[in-house]
Amino acid sequence: MRAGGLVLLPTETVYGLGADASNPTAVAAIFEAKGRPRFNPLIAHVADLETAGRIADLDDRAVALARAFWPGPLTIVAPIKDAGAVCDLARAGLDTVAIRVPGHRLARAVLESFGGAVVAPSANRSGRPSPTTFADAMAETGDKAAAALDGGPSAVGLESTVVSVLEGEARLLRPGAVTRAQLARIVGPLAEAEDDAKRSPGRLALHYAPDAPVRINARAPEAGEAFLAFGPDVEGQMIFNLSPTGDLAEAAANLFSFLRAADRTKPSTIAVAPIPEDGLGEAINDRLRRAAGFIG
Ligand code: TXA
Ligand code: MG
Repeated sequence: MRAGGLVLLPTETVYGLGADASNPTAVAAIFEAKGRPRFNPLIAHVADLETAGRIADLDDRAVALARAFWPGPLTIVAPIKDAGAVCDLARAGLDTVAIRVPGHRLARAVLESFGGAVVAPSANRSGRPSPTTFADAMAETGDKAAAALDGGPSAVGLESTVVSVLEGEARLLRPGAVTRAQLARIVGPLAEAEDDAKRSPGRLALHYAPDAPVRINARAPEAGEAFLAFGPDVEGQMIFNLSPTGDLAEAAANLFSFLRAADRTKPSTIAVAPIPEDGLGEAINDRLRRAAGFIG
């Protein structure tokens, strides 16, 4: 994992496909391994509350939840504090991070010895059920893993509960093994995930959108535009080359940080070169279409 490889990791909820959360190339490889990828934000797994507190801004409610349910199947979404520890791509460009301390003995041993955060989505290929046995995990993405740990069948078998603890009430984003009633005992009644969508229709604030408008499939930049290039022989002022060699994994790893960097040049528009639709390109294009406002 330190060398950027993917590791099949047992947790008490489901098997995860883990990678160094601080390494954008390794994180890109996870999306690639899952097939038909979309850049959903991933969960950062850490060994303990102390490590979590260095990475995320945990308020009193978040700490109370962590004390009550960690190690265990609860993921807390909180503002990111150390953006290098969980890279932009792992957070899908958001300024929040989903973090949890898993309960499985082997997962914790790995996290303790690794020291940093490990992102691990469920180890299934996209659109398939989450694996809850070592054999299922191996059948799904074992061929993509540099190492795999057999931790027996997952005790919970269902992904962790995801609760966001940001401004306002805590919000249940994904139901899971830790129930709403259990959470309410610690932080009071929870807001619904849907409430946000109702308040601002069509704007699911789940993906980073730059301040500047985004123009996709651009052959070249116009005056005043920043340009996200892809491929050889494109350089210059306000030009950010996602991958001079045309490598989609490299482009994926650079995407969110380059969008931010382009935005910081205060361009009229961020123009983006056409990206091939194959492999990781589909996820890159999905993300770009969202940034350009074509998908809600
Ligand atoms: O049980 C689990 O949570 C498993 C095991 C392996 O730990 N992992 C898992 O990861 O289910 P994944 O990537 O399949 O699910 C991540 C969930 C998604 O629903 C995603 O939208 C949400 O967490 N999420 C991650 N970061 C978020 C953020 N910053 N804000 C809101 N939701 C976030
Ligand atoms: Mg999943």
